[in-house]
Amino acid sequence: MSKRYAGITGTGHYVPEYVLTNQELETIVDTNDEWIRTRTGIRERRILKDKDKATSFMATRAAEEVLERTGTDPKEIDVIIVATVTPDYMFPATACLVQKNIGATRAYAFDMLAACSGFLFALTTGSNMIESGRAQKVLVIGADKMSSIVDYTDRNTCILFGDGAGAVLLEAFEEETGVIDYVHYTDGDDQCLLYQPAGGSKRPASHETVDLHLHSLRQDGRPVFKKATEGMADVSAEIMQRNNLTGEDVDWLVPHQANLRIISATANRMGLDPSKVMINIDKYGNTTAATIPLCLYEWSDRLSKGDKLVLTAFGGGLTWGATYVKWSV
Ligand code: COA
Repeated sequence: MSKRYAGITGTGHYVPEYVLTNQELETIVDTNDEWIRTRTGIRERRILKDKDKATSFMATRAAEEVLERTGTDPKEIDVIIVATVTPDYMFPATACLVQKNIGATRAYAFDMLAACSGFLFALTTGSNMIESGRAQKVLVIGADKMSSIVDYTDRNTCILFGDGAGAVLLEAFEEETGVIDYVHYTDGDDQCLLYQPAGGSKRPASHETVDLHLHSLRQDGRPVFKKATEGMADVSAEIMQRNNLTGEDVDWLVPHQANLRIISATANRMGLDPSKVMINIDKYGNTTAATIPLCLYEWSDRLSKGDKLVLTAFGGGLTWGATYVKWSV
C-alpha cells in the first residue's frame, strides 16, 4: 500500500455570545485593563453563561459547522476525538455525547486529556489512524468551558481563560499533504505547577474541597511562563530543523494562545515575520484545547493549498509539542 497522509479538509468553531471584558473583571477582582493587556495580550474572553450548556454543546456546534462546510454526512465519520480538560462529566466521554448529537452512528469516540496541548496530541492520534489505513475520516475537536473550573476570586488565573471550541476534519490523501511531522514532549508535573487539585480519585469532592476552592485550576504563573516560553520556542525550532524549514519557508505560525509574550518569543526564535503569526488571544483569552483550532477556523479563508503551518502548544501535564502541517485544500 502506498503511504497515506491525513489532510485537514475543513474547520468549524463555536464561541459563546457573552463577552467578559477586562473592564468587567476590574469589578470582580483587584486587577486592571492595562495590567492584563500588557502582561497577557488579552482584552476580552467569551463565557458560556447558560448553566444547562457545557463543553459537549460547544464541541457539537463546532462539529456541525465543519460537517456542513465540508458537505460531510456524519455517518461517514469513523472516529471522533475531543481534547478537553472540562468534560461534561468525568465519564462518559464528551466525545460520546458529540457522537450522539451529530448522529455519527458509525463512529467510535473518546476524549483526550493533554490540557493546552490536547488539540495537538489529538491531531497526531487522528492522523496516525488515517495514515495506518484504519480510518478515512476523523473529527478532531478541541473544546473547553474553562469558566467551569476558574476561580473568579483568584486574580492570578481568572483573567487568563475563556470558553470555546474548534474542530477540524481529517481525511485520507495519497499525495504528501496534511500532518507531515510532529514532535511532542511530556515532563510529569510532580510540583503541581498547573493543575486542578480536587475532583479526581486523589481528592474526590467533599465539603472541604468545595470550601477550599480545590475544584478550580491552580497555576504557579512564573515557572510555567518560563517553561512555556522555552518549550514552545525550542520545539518549534526543532520541528523546523527536522524538516529543513527556515523562517522564510513557514507561511503561518499557529501558536497556543496562553500569553502574547510567549507567542512573540516563539515567533522570534523561528525567525518569523509577525504578520505570519495567528493571534486571537485579545478576543478569546486562553481557551485551552480550543485555541489552535479556533485560529485555524478564523484564518481558513486566508489559507491556500500547500501553505506550510507550524502548530505549537504548551500546557498542563506538563505537555508540549509542535506539528508541521501542509494545508490540504
Ligand atoms: N492584576 C494585577 N496584578 C496581578 C494580577 C492581576 N490579574 N495577577 C497577578 N498580579 C500581580 C502579582 O500578584 C504580582 O504582584 P507582586 O509582585 O506584588 O507579588 C505581580 O502582579 C506580578 O505577578 P507575576 O505572576 O510575576 O506576573 P507575570 O508577569 O508572570 O504574569 C501571568 C502572570 C499569569 C500572566 C504569566 O505568568 C503567564 O502567562 N504564565 C504562563 C501562562 C501559561 O503559559 N500557561 C501555560 C499554558 S495554559
